[in-house]
Amino acid sequence: VLQSIASIFGHSFTFEDHLFGGNAMDQGLEPLPDTTREACLSANAVLLGAVGNPKWDDLTAKVRPEHATLELRTELGVYANLRPIPVYPELIEVTPFKPQHIEGVELLIIRELTGGLHYGKPSYREIVNGQRRAIDTLRYSEEEIRRVLTVAFRLAKDRRCLVTSVDKANIMESSRLWRQIAEEVNTEHPDVELEHKYVDVAALHLIQAGAKYDVVVTENMFGDILSEAASVYSGSLGMVPSASIGDSDIMLYEPIHGSAPDIAGKGIANPIGAILSAAMLLDYSLGLKLESDAVHKAVANAITSGARTADISSTSHHISTTQMGNAVIECLEKHQHKS
Ligand code: IPM
Ligand code: MG
Repeated sequence: VLQSIASIFGHSFTFEDHLFGGNAMDQGLEPLPDTTREACLSANAVLLGAVGNPKWDDLTAKVRPEHATLELRTELGVYANLRPIPVYPELIEVTPFKPQHIEGVELLIIRELTGGLHYGKPSYREIVNGQRRAIDTLRYSEEEIRRVLTVAFRLAKDRRCLVTSVDKANIMESSRLWRQIAEEVNTEHPDVELEHKYVDVAALHLIQAGAKYDVVVTENMFGDILSEAASVYSGSLGMVPSASIGDSDIMLYEPIHGSAPDIAGKGIANPIGAILSAAMLLDYSLGLKLESDAVHKAVANAITSGARTADISSTSHHISTTQMGNAVIECLEKHQHKS
């Protein structure tokens, strides 16, 4: 898709592939090999594929593919993970919703990405009185909270001017600090409305009444969970893209789905989450808004024309990953001829 954007719009992109996660471990390398780290740090943008592999799922292992993901996010300093939930009315039949439930749903979930429960230290096991015990830590500094909330308020201005900050302030100190900072950041953006929701309430309400939300911003683990739940609006987890942004110029793009080992190698995975991630890359990293819009439109047109991978097909008929990619490219080219 990026290649065809380049040829249609007269750009030239240089692509480099590098090993990461399970693929790197398969070659006897670290999950994030130095060559990959350096290549990412000298690129304009990084487009990531999912990292797991059941082969590496040993819960007692010291090194796991996921370490690569966490390390790269830290390395690039991409603290705000933007997860827009794409909604296509044509896919209503593969969602559990009635049309009135998806009408007006335009969710952007912003997940804090380089702190919180995913990273908190100490995180370890010990034996106490002959019992195994495990400890994880949820730690946030004021600055870590402020910067991701600032992103949320900034982005809300170009949308419906509503920020929902999700926390568990009734029980957690980190959430009480989060809530306080959200109020403070709100005073710098008085044109944006701020509401607070407890994460358990938000989990229910997001699915019951998604149209009431605009920008939802929350802690790393809460955001991981809520965004995956919200993907039901898209008809499939395979549809949802993400962009991870920070203060540096290098940003990271990845679909929110995992490596789907159950369908690996079958050629039936849905490429739309990855394609829409590339569309976000065009916009945020390369400043190519027109091109980004063209990709979004091509995906919508491909869906309208009936292109369905297995996960978004309501019949036994479906096309392959490659065919879906080609369907999007065809729509891109058609649109170009018309304009
Ligand atoms: C995600 C994934 C990752 C996360 C894993 C693979 C480390 O679930 O990107 O949503 O928890 O952040
Ligand atoms: Mg996840």
